[in-house]
Amino acid sequence: MIITISNQKGGVGKTTIAVQIAARAGERGLKTLVVDLDGQGSASYAVTGDVKAHRAAGQTVMDLWDANKPIPAAETRYENVWLCRASDKLDEVDRDTLTAAITALTRLKTVAYDVVLIDTPPAVGPRQVAPQIVADVLVSPLEPDMLSTHGLSSLARMLAAVVKMNPDVRRHALINRFRKVALEQQKIVEGLRGALKDTLLPQELTEREFVRHARARYRPVWLEAPREPAALAWRAMCDQVLGPVSGTGIAPVVPEDGATNMKMAEQEEVA
Ligand SMILES: Nc1ncnc2c1ncn2[C@@H]1O[C@H](COP(=O)(O)OP(=O)(O)OP(=O)(O)O)[C@@H](O)[C@H]1O
Ligand SMILES: [Mg+2]
Repeated sequence: MIITISNQKGGVGKTTIAVQIAARAGERGLKTLVVDLDGQGSASYAVTGDVKAHRAAGQTVMDLWDANKPIPAAETRYENVWLCRASDKLDEVDRDTLTAAITALTRLKTVAYDVVLIDTPPAVGPRQVAPQIVADVLVSPLEPDMLSTHGLSSLARMLAAVVKMNPDVRRHALINRFRKVALEQQKIVEGLRGALKDTLLPQELTEREFVRHARARYRPVWLEAPREPAALAWRAMCDQVLGPVSGTGIAPVVPEDGATNMKMAEQEEVA
């Protein structure tokens, strides 16, 4: 199952949410791969603690664009979670076509993982669109603050466009960084529920210090603050996004075989 976290707005919590869903999947015993498509490497850093994870040459997510190379997978600080790390040269793939990005990411459909989480950069381009096209599930975090009418209409447009390109995708919008004390934000959230209806996940993730602490300590939010209902909402959100997916229990966590990818690419060409 491929889960893409995407919203062109920066700082809404894409990476934090991607890491927490990965942590929950791992906790549930699901073999999980985090794919970091942001050249800043925030997800790579968040799961390894290595600030330079995206600076290394070779064995990065860019290998997906070369069907002859296996898909790299590095260990992380989270149980059952592996990382296909970012590269600070990722903007080079933006010069390639959207089709090339789709072909690259389609390889993730056949990897030996139960769950693949794609974290995307906050900019429109192949690295935002292709992950939406290959996704089984799309999660778009939003901050009540950004939801001026403009923010909401661009999100609604994006969600409508995705379903045209990928009709079977399960789409979720998700409120994050909500400050319940702010009356203005409460009104925005009410408006959002009316506009987005069932697409909007029921959990409202609030702006809380324990979220940053969890990230700094490489652990799930609900273990960082186990007595806080607001922290438990994170776990409920992760479970709702993951759904009833269960692990195969037999899938070996090995990088995909380059030869298999070649065959797939050839088959696609024939088709
Ligand atoms: N619910 C929350 N409570 C407190 N802090 C949060 C919350 N969600 C995210 N943050 C913090 O906000 C900052 C931005 O979050 P994050 O990096 O996940 O956003 P992003 O959408 O991935 O950003 P970018 O678009 O730059 O990739 C981080 O410092 C993160 O720790
Ligand atoms: Mg990010």
